[in-house]
Amino acid sequence: MGILEVLFPFFIFPVIYASNDCRFSFCGSNSIIIRFPFQLEDEQNPYCGYPGFNLICTNNSRAVLKLPYSGVFYVRNINYLTQKIQVYDPDDCLPKRLLSLNVSGSPFIHTFTRNYTFLSCPFLKAGSQYIPIDCLSNSTHFVLAVPSMNLPNPLPTSCYVITSLFVPVAGPEQQYGGSFKGELSEDLLLTWDTPDCRYCESQEQLCGFDLNDNNQLSCFSYQTGASQQGIQIFRIITLCIAEPAAIFAIVMACCVCYKDRLAIIRNNAIARSAPATISPAPQIVTTTGLDESTIESYEKVVLGESKRVPGPNDGCCWICLSEYNSKDTVRCIPECQHCFHADCIDEWLRMNPTCPVCRNSPSPLQLTSLDP
Ligand SMILES: *[C@@H]1O[C@H](CO)[C@@H](O)[C@H](O)[C@H]1NC(C)=O
Ligand SMILES: *[C@@H]1O[C@H](CO)[C@@H](O)[C@H](O)[C@H]1NC(C)=O
Ligand SMILES: *[C@@H]1O[C@H](CO)[C@@H](O)[C@H](O)[C@H]1NC(C)=O
Ligand SMILES: *[C@@H]1O[C@H](CO)[C@@H](O)[C@H](O)[C@H]1NC(C)=O
Repeated sequence: MGILEVLFPFFIFPVIYASNDCRFSFCGSNSIIIRFPFQLEDEQNPYCGYPGFNLICTNNSRAVLKLPYSGVFYVRNINYLTQKIQVYDPDDCLPKRLLSLNVSGSPFIHTFTRNYTFLSCPFLKAGSQYIPIDCLSNSTHFVLAVPSMNLPNPLPTSCYVITSLFVPVAGPEQQYGGSFKGELSEDLLLTWDTPDCRYCESQEQLCGFDLNDNNQLSCFSYQTGASQQGIQIFRIITLCIAEPAAIFAIVMACCVCYKDRLAIIRNNAIARSAPATISPAPQIVTTTGLDESTIESYEKVVLGESKRVPGPNDGCCWICLSEYNSKDTVRCIPECQHCFHADCIDEWLRMNPTCPVCRNSPSPLQLTSLDP
């Protein structure tokens, strides 16, 4: 997407850490936040991860969970509040993995299981309520997974049972209303009980090992701010890049909507955060932005239920990178018709007179002609 998305991980994410100095990790641009009890295998800090919760980043930015007896899964999502991890098969054949799933030796458990019978049938009646599992079927046999309690009796002729076993499923039976179509192709949902960080998470704090007693867990507050390393990187970038002031402006604009970003993360209950304190950054702004009356003269639109933003815009504000919601107020730059959250673009324009997307300077002439 925008230039901001490229800069965002470097400027914002590395400077979020718990007050015990354990910081958040990411696999490349993948947005899964990796933090206690999870830790990246190559960032081994005994305080910052719990045994058994190591993840690996693949070279295509995926987070990988390795189960001792069942191989690797890609991580789709981690919910730190409910202590659930959603994983999927790298080869996109979850039923095959479920046939031999064994989570022992890992801290993970599955909450709901259902007895499924895997059948092999040479043909399938048209309109059958069972969907063949494509990745297990071959040119001569369809493979089906049928909840054992719904198994037709007698079995259709020439079908045979491959195996019956309890496989992990996402929820209790009622949730499926008797229709099990596709249930096994959904992601695999695993939970963990130890360490139990639900209390800290529910208090919008981070969990970690107590600094005095390493067998105890404690809650830590969130902190943001430039770490020593962050300051170094910041200095190098400000020295080396041709438009240091512009970059600083971007960072400032990011910060304005940073709370929005955190709010979204909070809504997803992936990360729960107290209002962040942004550490003061050096005041090196040299560009001057537009004055209030010019900014106010740009058209403002309150989004309707459809959340549709006028002009050549997608569903996300390029400054704060959060999605538009109905009733959000957006402001559009007349010349290029690029729109942003009003709060975000106002802050930007006060520091920088150009559109953050296309760098066009709005000209006063067009301003008047487009003014409603
Ligand atoms: C990166 O991934 C590709 C396949 O996606 C693989 O062929 C390659 O060997 C990997 N490289 C490294 C360094 O792991
Ligand atoms: C899982 O694998 C371990 C090691 O091979 C074995 O001891 C254990 O019985 C297996 N558990 C199940 C449920 O198959
Ligand atoms: C297809 O799979 C069935 C088992 O489901 C197996 O018996 C059969 O040999 C396989 N056929 C081919 C062509 O691989
Ligand atoms: C699952 O159901 C089948 C058929 O009802 C039954 O034969 C089998 O024993 C059950 N499996 C287990 C592990 O209980």
